[in-house]
Amino acid sequence: MRRKMVAGNWKMHGNLSENKQLLNAIVTSLDGLQGVEFLVCVPYLYLPSVQDTLQNTNIAWGAQNVSQYEKGPYTGEISASMLNDFECRYVIVGHSERRALFGEDSHTVAKKYQAAQRAGITPILCVGETLEQREAGTTEQVIEDQLAAVIKLTGVESLVSAIIAYEPVWAIGTGRTASPEQAQDTHSFIREGIEKQNANIANGLTILYGGSVKASNASELFDMPDIDGGLIGGASLVAVDFVAICRALHQ
Ligand code: 13P
Repeated sequence: MRRKMVAGNWKMHGNLSENKQLLNAIVTSLDGLQGVEFLVCVPYLYLPSVQDTLQNTNIAWGAQNVSQYEKGPYTGEISASMLNDFECRYVIVGHSERRALFGEDSHTVAKKYQAAQRAGITPILCVGETLEQREAGTTEQVIEDQLAAVIKLTGVESLVSAIIAYEPVWAIGTGRTASPEQAQDTHSFIREGIEKQNANIANGLTILYGGSVKASNASELFDMPDIDGGLIGGASLVAVDFVAICRALHQ
Protein backbone atom coordinates (compact mmCIF):
# COMPACT_ATOMS: atom_id res chain seq x y z
CA MET A 1 0.00 0.00 0.00
CA ARG A 2 1.18 3.49 -0.82
CA ARG A 3 1.89 5.12 2.49
CA LYS A 4 2.67 8.65 3.51
CA MET A 5 5.87 9.03 5.47
CA VAL A 6 8.22 11.63 6.84
CA ALA A 7 11.57 10.10 7.79
CA GLY A 8 14.42 11.92 9.49
CA ASN A 9 17.97 10.94 8.65
CA TRP A 10 20.09 12.20 11.50
CA LYS A 11 23.32 11.19 9.74
CA MET A 12 26.32 11.45 12.14
CA HIS A 13 24.77 14.00 14.49
CA GLY A 14 23.50 14.04 18.04
CA ASN A 15 24.43 12.81 21.48
CA LEU A 16 22.47 11.16 24.25
CA SER A 17 21.12 14.31 25.84
CA GLU A 18 20.45 16.21 22.60
CA ASN A 19 18.64 13.19 21.18
CA LYS A 20 16.43 12.93 24.22
CA GLN A 21 15.49 16.61 24.04
CA LEU A 22 14.81 16.43 20.32
CA LEU A 23 12.69 13.30 20.58
CA ASN A 24 10.71 14.49 23.58
CA ALA A 25 9.72 17.62 21.68
CA ILE A 26 8.79 15.66 18.56
CA VAL A 27 6.83 13.02 20.46
CA THR A 28 4.77 15.65 22.24
CA SER A 29 4.03 17.61 19.08
CA LEU A 30 3.12 14.64 16.90
CA ASP A 31 1.10 12.81 19.51
CA GLY A 32 -2.22 11.63 18.11
CA LEU A 33 -1.50 12.45 14.45
CA GLN A 34 -2.63 9.53 12.33
CA GLY A 35 -2.57 8.57 8.68
CA VAL A 36 1.09 9.48 8.22
CA GLU A 37 4.08 7.45 9.35
CA PHE A 38 6.88 9.19 11.18
CA LEU A 39 10.36 7.72 11.40
CA VAL A 40 13.81 8.69 12.65
CA CYS A 41 16.91 6.92 11.33
CA VAL A 42 19.61 7.32 13.95
CA PRO A 43 23.26 6.34 14.43
CA TYR A 44 23.50 2.68 15.46
CA LEU A 45 24.79 3.39 18.96
CA TYR A 46 21.72 5.35 19.90
CA LEU A 47 19.21 2.69 18.85
CA PRO A 48 18.68 1.28 22.38
CA SER A 49 17.96 4.66 23.92
CA VAL A 50 15.84 5.82 20.97
CA GLN A 51 13.89 2.56 21.16
CA ASP A 52 13.31 3.22 24.83
CA THR A 53 12.07 6.76 24.22
CA LEU A 54 9.87 5.99 21.21
CA GLN A 55 8.30 2.76 22.42
CA ASN A 56 4.51 3.22 22.49
CA THR A 57 4.58 6.45 20.46
CA ASN A 58 3.51 7.03 16.84
CA ILE A 59 7.14 7.49 15.77
CA ALA A 60 9.18 4.58 14.43
CA TRP A 61 12.96 4.26 14.50
CA GLY A 62 15.44 2.80 12.06
CA ALA A 63 19.08 2.68 11.02
CA GLN A 64 21.04 4.45 8.31
CA ASN A 65 22.95 1.49 6.97
CA VAL A 66 23.23 -2.29 7.32
CA SER A 67 25.76 -4.92 6.39
CA GLN A 68 25.13 -7.03 3.31
CA TYR A 69 26.37 -10.03 5.32
CA GLU A 70 24.40 -12.07 7.84
CA LYS A 71 27.27 -12.65 10.26
CA GLY A 72 30.95 -13.45 10.30
CA PRO A 73 34.38 -11.84 10.35
CA TYR A 74 33.33 -8.37 9.21
CA THR A 75 34.91 -6.01 11.70
CA GLY A 76 32.86 -2.93 12.40
CA GLU A 77 29.75 -4.09 10.57
CA ILE A 78 26.18 -4.34 11.87
CA SER A 79 23.85 -7.03 10.55
CA ALA A 80 20.13 -6.83 9.86
CA SER A 81 19.39 -9.35 12.61
CA MET A 82 21.22 -7.07 15.07
CA LEU A 83 18.92 -4.25 13.98
CA ASN A 84 16.00 -6.56 14.68
CA ASP A 85 17.18 -6.90 18.26
CA PHE A 86 16.32 -3.22 18.63
CA GLU A 87 13.02 -3.48 16.75
CA CYS A 88 14.14 -1.40 13.79
CA ARG A 89 11.43 -1.62 11.15
CA TYR A 90 13.32 0.42 8.56
CA VAL A 91 16.84 0.93 7.30
CA ILE A 92 18.21 3.37 4.73
CA VAL A 93 20.30 1.69 2.04
CA GLY A 94 22.33 3.26 -0.75
CA HIS A 95 22.35 6.81 0.57
CA SER A 96 24.45 8.92 -1.80
CA GLU A 97 26.89 9.69 1.02
CA ARG A 98 27.55 5.97 1.37
CA ARG A 99 27.86 5.54 -2.37
CA ALA A 100 30.19 8.53 -2.81
CA LEU A 101 32.24 8.50 0.41
CA PHE A 102 32.32 4.81 1.33
CA GLY A 103 32.51 3.21 -2.08
CA GLU A 104 29.16 1.41 -2.10
CA ASP A 105 28.27 0.43 -5.64
CA SER A 106 24.78 -0.49 -6.79
CA HIS A 107 25.44 -4.23 -6.42
CA THR A 108 26.51 -3.80 -2.80
CA VAL A 109 23.47 -1.62 -2.19
CA ALA A 110 21.27 -4.35 -3.69
CA LYS A 111 22.82 -6.92 -1.32
CA LYS A 112 22.12 -4.65 1.64
CA TYR A 113 18.54 -4.18 0.47
CA GLN A 114 18.20 -7.95 0.26
CA ALA A 115 19.77 -8.50 3.68
CA ALA A 116 17.30 -6.05 5.23
CA GLN A 117 14.30 -7.72 3.61
CA ARG A 118 15.45 -11.18 4.60
CA ALA A 119 15.38 -10.00 8.20
CA GLY A 120 11.91 -8.51 7.77
CA ILE A 121 13.15 -4.92 7.78
CA THR A 122 11.84 -2.47 5.17
CA PRO A 123 14.69 -0.94 3.18
CA ILE A 124 14.47 2.71 2.15
CA LEU A 125 16.40 2.58 -1.09
CA CYS A 126 18.01 5.89 -2.05
CA VAL A 127 18.57 6.78 -5.68
CA GLY A 128 19.61 10.04 -7.30
CA GLU A 129 21.92 11.79 -9.70
CA THR A 130 24.86 14.14 -9.20
CA LEU A 131 24.89 17.65 -10.62
CA GLU A 132 27.23 16.56 -13.43
CA GLN A 133 24.87 13.75 -14.35
CA ARG A 134 21.86 16.07 -14.36
CA GLU A 135 23.69 18.60 -16.51
CA ALA A 136 24.79 15.86 -18.87
CA GLY A 137 21.14 14.80 -19.24
CA THR A 138 21.70 11.33 -17.79
CA THR A 139 19.48 11.60 -14.70
CA GLU A 140 16.98 9.00 -15.88
CA GLN A 141 19.66 6.55 -16.99
CA VAL A 142 21.46 6.84 -13.64
CA ILE A 143 18.29 6.17 -11.68
CA GLU A 144 17.22 3.37 -13.94
CA ASP A 145 20.60 1.67 -13.43
CA GLN A 146 20.45 2.12 -9.64
CA LEU A 147 16.99 0.53 -9.55
CA ALA A 148 17.89 -2.19 -12.04
CA ALA A 149 20.68 -3.48 -9.80
CA VAL A 150 18.17 -4.12 -7.02
CA ILE A 151 15.48 -5.55 -9.28
CA LYS A 152 18.01 -7.88 -10.90
CA LEU A 153 18.97 -9.34 -7.53
CA THR A 154 15.63 -9.45 -5.74
CA GLY A 155 12.95 -9.12 -8.44
CA VAL A 156 10.44 -6.34 -8.96
CA GLU A 157 8.10 -8.07 -6.47
CA SER A 158 10.51 -7.19 -3.67
CA LEU A 159 9.42 -3.56 -4.02
CA VAL A 160 6.15 -4.49 -2.31
CA SER A 161 8.00 -4.28 0.97
CA ALA A 162 10.34 -1.40 0.24
CA ILE A 163 10.33 2.37 0.02
CA ILE A 164 12.25 4.40 -2.53
CA ALA A 165 13.76 7.79 -1.76
CA TYR A 166 14.68 10.05 -4.65
CA GLU A 167 17.54 12.23 -3.44
CA PRO A 168 19.22 14.38 -6.08
CA VAL A 169 22.80 14.60 -4.82
CA TRP A 170 23.04 18.28 -5.76
CA ALA A 171 20.16 19.09 -3.42
CA ILE A 172 21.50 17.29 -0.34
CA GLY A 173 22.68 19.61 2.40
CA THR A 174 23.13 22.40 -0.14
CA GLY A 175 20.01 24.42 0.56
CA ARG A 176 19.24 23.94 -3.12
CA THR A 177 16.00 21.99 -3.50
CA ALA A 178 14.66 20.37 -6.62
CA SER A 179 11.60 22.35 -7.71
CA PRO A 180 8.36 20.51 -7.08
CA GLU A 181 8.07 19.97 -10.85
CA GLN A 182 11.62 18.61 -11.16
CA ALA A 183 11.02 16.24 -8.24
CA GLN A 184 7.62 15.19 -9.59
CA ASP A 185 9.12 14.48 -13.02
CA THR A 186 11.67 12.10 -11.55
CA HIS A 187 9.19 10.48 -9.17
CA SER A 188 6.79 9.78 -12.03
CA PHE A 189 9.70 8.47 -14.12
CA ILE A 190 10.48 6.02 -11.31
CA ARG A 191 6.85 4.96 -10.91
CA GLU A 192 6.33 4.55 -14.66
CA GLY A 193 9.49 2.48 -14.97
CA ILE A 194 8.22 0.07 -12.34
CA GLU A 195 4.72 0.14 -13.82
CA LYS A 196 6.07 -1.38 -17.02
CA GLN A 197 7.14 -4.37 -14.95
CA ASN A 198 4.28 -4.56 -12.49
CA ALA A 199 1.46 -2.00 -12.37
CA ASN A 200 0.14 -3.04 -8.95
CA ILE A 201 3.51 -2.66 -7.34
CA ALA A 202 4.08 0.71 -9.00
CA ASN A 203 0.71 2.02 -7.81
CA GLY A 204 1.40 0.94 -4.25
CA LEU A 205 5.01 2.10 -4.12
CA THR A 206 5.91 4.81 -1.63
CA ILE A 207 8.42 7.27 -3.10
CA LEU A 208 9.92 9.88 -0.77
CA TYR A 209 11.74 13.02 -1.86
CA GLY A 210 14.94 14.06 -0.07
CA GLY A 211 17.23 17.03 -0.55
CA SER A 212 16.95 20.26 1.44
CA VAL A 213 13.32 19.73 2.42
CA LYS A 214 12.40 22.48 4.87
CA ALA A 215 9.30 23.66 6.65
CA SER A 216 9.01 26.37 4.00
CA ASN A 217 9.03 24.12 0.93
CA ALA A 218 7.55 20.86 2.25
CA SER A 219 3.92 21.52 1.33
CA GLU A 220 4.55 22.33 -2.32
CA LEU A 221 6.68 19.20 -2.69
CA PHE A 222 4.17 17.00 -0.88
CA ASP A 223 1.34 18.35 -3.05
CA MET A 224 2.83 16.62 -6.08
CA PRO A 225 0.95 13.46 -7.05
CA ASP A 226 3.92 11.09 -7.02
CA ILE A 227 5.65 12.45 -3.91
CA ASP A 228 4.51 10.42 -0.91
CA GLY A 229 6.58 12.13 1.74
CA GLY A 230 10.13 13.11 2.56
CA LEU A 231 13.51 11.91 3.76
CA ILE A 232 14.83 14.80 5.78
CA GLY A 233 18.44 15.50 6.75
CA GLY A 234 19.34 18.82 8.38
CA ALA A 235 15.79 19.85 9.25
CA SER A 236 15.19 16.59 11.11
CA LEU A 237 17.63 17.77 13.80
CA VAL A 238 15.49 20.76 14.76
CA ALA A 239 12.27 19.74 16.48
CA VAL A 240 10.08 22.63 15.27
CA ASP A 241 11.26 22.18 11.69
CA PHE A 242 10.78 18.42 11.65
CA VAL A 243 7.34 18.74 13.22
CA ALA A 244 6.32 21.41 10.69
CA ILE A 245 7.38 19.12 7.83
CA CYS A 246 5.44 16.22 9.37
CA ARG A 247 2.37 18.43 9.68
CA ALA A 248 2.72 19.58 6.09
CA LEU A 249 2.36 15.99 4.95
CA HIS A 250 -0.43 15.27 7.39
CA GLN A 251 -2.69 18.01 5.96
P1 13P B 1 19.22 17.48 3.71
O1 13P B 1 17.76 17.49 4.06
O2 13P B 1 20.10 17.99 4.80
O3 13P B 1 19.47 18.11 2.38
O4 13P B 1 19.63 15.93 3.55
C1 13P B 1 18.85 15.10 2.77
C2 13P B 1 19.29 13.71 2.97
O5 13P B 1 20.39 13.34 2.61
C3 13P B 1 18.37 12.80 3.67
O6 13P B 1 18.81 11.49 3.58
